[in-house]
Amino acid sequence: MPAKVDMDKIVSLCKRRGFIFPSSEIYGGLASCWDYGPMGVELKRNVKEAWWKTMVQDRDDVVGLDTSIMMHPGVWAASGHIDNFTDPLVECKSCHLRWRADAVEGKKCPQCSGELTEPRMFNLMFKTFMGPVEGEGSIVYLRPETAQGIFVNFENVVTTSRKKLPLGIAQIGKSFRNEITPGNFIFRTREFEHMEVEYFVKPGTDEKWLDYWVKERFDWYVKLGIKKENLRLRQHGKDELAHYARDCYDIEYLFPMGWSELEGIANRGDFDLTQHAKCSGKELSYRDAEGGEKYVPYVIEPSAGVDRSILAFLVDAYEEEDVEGEKRTVLHLHHSLAPIKVAVLPLSRNEKLTPLAKEVFRQLCPKFMTDYDDSQSIGRRYRRQDEIGTPFCVTIDFESLEDKQVTIRERDSLAQIRVPIEGLEHVVEAKLKGEAFDASTLWATRQK
Ligand code: GAP
Repeated sequence: MPAKVDMDKIVSLCKRRGFIFPSSEIYGGLASCWDYGPMGVELKRNVKEAWWKTMVQDRDDVVGLDTSIMMHPGVWAASGHIDNFTDPLVECKSCHLRWRADAVEGKKCPQCSGELTEPRMFNLMFKTFMGPVEGEGSIVYLRPETAQGIFVNFENVVTTSRKKLPLGIAQIGKSFRNEITPGNFIFRTREFEHMEVEYFVKPGTDEKWLDYWVKERFDWYVKLGIKKENLRLRQHGKDELAHYARDCYDIEYLFPMGWSELEGIANRGDFDLTQHAKCSGKELSYRDAEGGEKYVPYVIEPSAGVDRSILAFLVDAYEEEDVEGEKRTVLHLHHSLAPIKVAVLPLSRNEKLTPLAKEVFRQLCPKFMTDYDDSQSIGRRYRRQDEIGTPFCVTIDFESLEDKQVTIRERDSLAQIRVPIEGLEHVVEAKLKGEAFDASTLWATRQK
């Protein structure tokens, strides 16, 4: 079953409406690197905030952390990334293009049908040098996951947070992978953001907690508006488990190119703490309350990508519909994710309307991300707000000058209601929280 929208349409909307631009575009771009524009940066902030709220703020068993991107190289030797974080690479002997061996069928180059080399293992970590001397002794890596910053701080966090196990440590931050074949827009890039929790539990309870987190994470996407039929779970086969994993489930989404991983939830066992204890010489264990049993905790890891989640939210929200013979493109983003919550649109640039419209804008913007737009026809301005997923438009017309009321138009139903300017922010707040949009009979048509 193909997804309902082509990737090209998403890429084009993102460019047109200021969500995502190609990186360094005026120099011709840089492969697989993207910049978030004014709308994209708000959407990204909202996705991260929604994750942090669910995973940290709303719970008493998870705390946050923000660790450095560059870490002691010993971390990556202990974690197994230097030896095992590799993909098999083949190169075409004619055109010299490089491919992931497992993504190529047969022994011919997909580009020019030339002969391919035998596979060799290619490490995906970016290497650089720290300080002014370039040499073996100054090599550092850009982290390929935020998880290791959490493991090496396990002891610090447990002792300072005064929390008992089970305990989760959450981190959002940039990760870097020198992917052989990045692509599909922001689905696979070489620089991206992770949202990860390492949830430390008593061995023996790990399977129960894995089931728990798989369900929690699946429900998170549904709660934020992703249609259930576009999500599915897939357990990893024994042969595809990462070197640290005892078990793993992928939450897959029906992206435009087909079903693909959106998030992974792994049971990492005691692999990481044991390795870091062995390689650092520091004991990394936990003692149950007051002189109880001592053990090395197991870890359940829900690991999501910010950018990949954004792509799923955009694809799922995208719709083209016919409204009275005209095509309307709309993003039905969840209210909490929408970059702009409310747009203030005076009917025209008429000098009589502007002061009141600006007053309404100033009333709303301290509470919500609010847009003010008075250029072009009102119809075009509605179209633009629909395309960026703005849940509500507030229109100021000549009647507003007399009756001190404005019209609120709802993105999804296109219904309109008339409400007093006084206390408007409370009406918008209630509607954003999901209060029904009870359009009066006068306004209950799908007006454009
Ligand atoms: N710490 C475990 C870990 O990193 P992973 O399955 O490699 O596990 C987790 O990555 C998530 O990070 C993926 O499900 C995806 O959402 C995101 N991700 C991984 N590599 C990515 C890439 N190259 N570009 C964008 N997102 C990526």
